[in-house]
Amino acid sequence: MTTPAVLILLGPPGAGKGTQARMLEEDFGFVQLSTGDLLRAAVASGSAAGMQAKAVMEAGGLVSDEIVLAILKDRMGQPDVTKGIILDGFPRTDGQAAALDELLAGAGQTVTAAISLDVDDEAMVGRIAGRFTCGGCGEGYHDDFKQPAVAGVCDKCGGTAFKRRADDNAETVRERLKAYHAQTAPLITYYDAKGVLQRIDAMGEIASIRMTLGNIVKGVSAQ
Ligand code: AP5
Repeated sequence: MTTPAVLILLGPPGAGKGTQARMLEEDFGFVQLSTGDLLRAAVASGSAAGMQAKAVMEAGGLVSDEIVLAILKDRMGQPDVTKGIILDGFPRTDGQAAALDELLAGAGQTVTAAISLDVDDEAMVGRIAGRFTCGGCGEGYHDDFKQPAVAGVCDKCGGTAFKRRADDNAETVRERLKAYHAQTAPLITYYDAKGVLQRIDAMGEIASIRMTLGNIVKGVSAQ
């Protein structure tokens, strides 16, 4: 591959975008760019953008394109983004998709693949309600599907402090699912028309989805 890979993971809340993005980082050396994580960092920092984003995120809506694009552009301009990126949770609207195309075109790049993680909505509420992450490194876990190997100790960094997200409750998840279907799911058609769409069944085991995704990435990287 001559230019850095630009992979997009599409899918509703709980589809496994973050879980799989972190595995792609490990497997291929790409960098995960999660707009959710960037926005949560902005909220934690108390910046003006973070304060505007906070209430919207807690209600399960979408933060304005203006704020999201500003934080994403800032992150994409950092030096570690050389081998390839995995966009996790971005783009989420027509406007964001168009802005991404423009940003990439300016650097002589295009989207390498947009991969839709196809899941059943109802199962997502359970996945999200059981989710927790390491407070040290951000590694994701689940009460039923992905416990640390040693209870209470992060597999990745050995940390012992874990946290749960403020927007991970059933009511907010339903709002996030509505936002996904109204504003983000149409991007599946958008990327299909560009000839870069791949769809995978993401209702199986985490490890088997990792393998399927890895094969897709190897395939598009070889082109
Ligand atoms: P964001 O942080 O992006 O959240 P999301 O899209 O709702 O997605 P999640 O992180 O909840 O789910 P995921 O698909 O990453 O699943 P995960 O791998 O953790 O966004 C949060 C908010 O920020 C938005 O609501 C919005 O307000 C704002 N925002 C963010 N980006 C924005 C943008 N571009 N524009 C506007 N606003 C934006 O998996 C979930 C759980 O399931 C985990 O516990 C995991 O261990 C488990 N799991 C994963 N895969 C499997 C599997 N195959 N089987 C069983 N369990 C599994």
